[in-house]
Amino acid sequence: MTLAQKKNFASDNVAPVCPELMAALTAENNGPAFGYGNDPTTERMERNLRDLFGCSLRAFPVATGTSANVLGLSVLTPPYGSIYCHDLSHIEVDECGAPEFYTAGAKLVLQPGANGKMAVKDVAANLEKSGAGVVHHVQPAVVNLTQVTDCGTVYTADEVSEFGELCRNHNLALHMDGARFANAVSALGCEPADITWKAGVDVLSFGVTKNGGMAVEAVIIFDEKKAQEFEFRRKRGAHLFSKMRYLSAQLARYTEDGLWLDLASNANEMARRLSDGLLKISGVRVEYPVDANMIFAFLSEKTIEQLEKSDFMFYVMGPRNEARVRLVTSWNTTAQEVDQFLDIVRAEMV
Ligand SMILES: Cc1ncc(COP(=O)(O)O)c(C=O)c1O
Repeated sequence: MTLAQKKNFASDNVAPVCPELMAALTAENNGPAFGYGNDPTTERMERNLRDLFGCSLRAFPVATGTSANVLGLSVLTPPYGSIYCHDLSHIEVDECGAPEFYTAGAKLVLQPGANGKMAVKDVAANLEKSGAGVVHHVQPAVVNLTQVTDCGTVYTADEVSEFGELCRNHNLALHMDGARFANAVSALGCEPADITWKAGVDVLSFGVTKNGGMAVEAVIIFDEKKAQEFEFRRKRGAHLFSKMRYLSAQLARYTEDGLWLDLASNANEMARRLSDGLLKISGVRVEYPVDANMIFAFLSEKTIEQLEKSDFMFYVMGPRNEARVRLVTSWNTTAQEVDQFLDIVRAEMV
């Protein structure tokens, strides 16, 4: 079976690059341009993002979500600071200590919470016992929200604002891991500003790779002073790209003609179709609310075995005997693929 015949529910970063962004790369590949971001495409990219967010901001392209997160965090906390995050968050589970490394040792303080979301009251209670101002303790510096969360749920604009208020009251920064930011905005039907700077977010990792890009994300910083510091940290952290225009070309096109939301809307719509279908099949359980493009479902072992023999790619997550799968839809997922997957599940779950 060739790769082209495979059907992807494994991850949105398993999907190919979307044609518009591939075309943007080809269009960019025409003649010389100054390096390190001193090129017209990078200027256009920043202008687009300012228009999209409706405010002044600085945007720094990087190649991975991890580098976006950890470089962003590095301007928000001192080495003796602490970062409050969900215990399933990407910065805790999947970044191999990079947040601690790039912040020169800041401590992650883990917060459980239903459906991958922290509750403001729980973080507030945790802050009460943090020992702020006491020299023996790490000093609370940042709250990190993941949007879409690692369970596929979404923080509403009101929920983000409540965290913004908490952060303001405790003199903390608010950081958002937006690896799936487009999926969240599409799901909420809000303006990007409503769940970022207007709600108190200081730094956003603006994901593109999972939504049709080729190894590109932007760190968006709403505070000019922090942005200046970021420039040095990015270079020192080895993420200042000489050929930045190729990253910028994707970001620029991504933010034009509503492309970013069209791509994310397809992924979300297909997840809705898939979860609606799964929920109609007796014996299938869906673990979390499906707010965006990610589904965690319990099937039967027999069903998983059959799916593994098929063209579908997906991850079995958790102990095998729990028969729990993660299904992620993407910018290019089709209704036909969803229906074929459901047909197999329906046939096997009887
Ligand atoms: C929530 C979240 N944040 C960040 C990332 C970025 O990871 P990477 O460094 O692999 O691009 C991912 C990717 O899986 C993610 O799911």
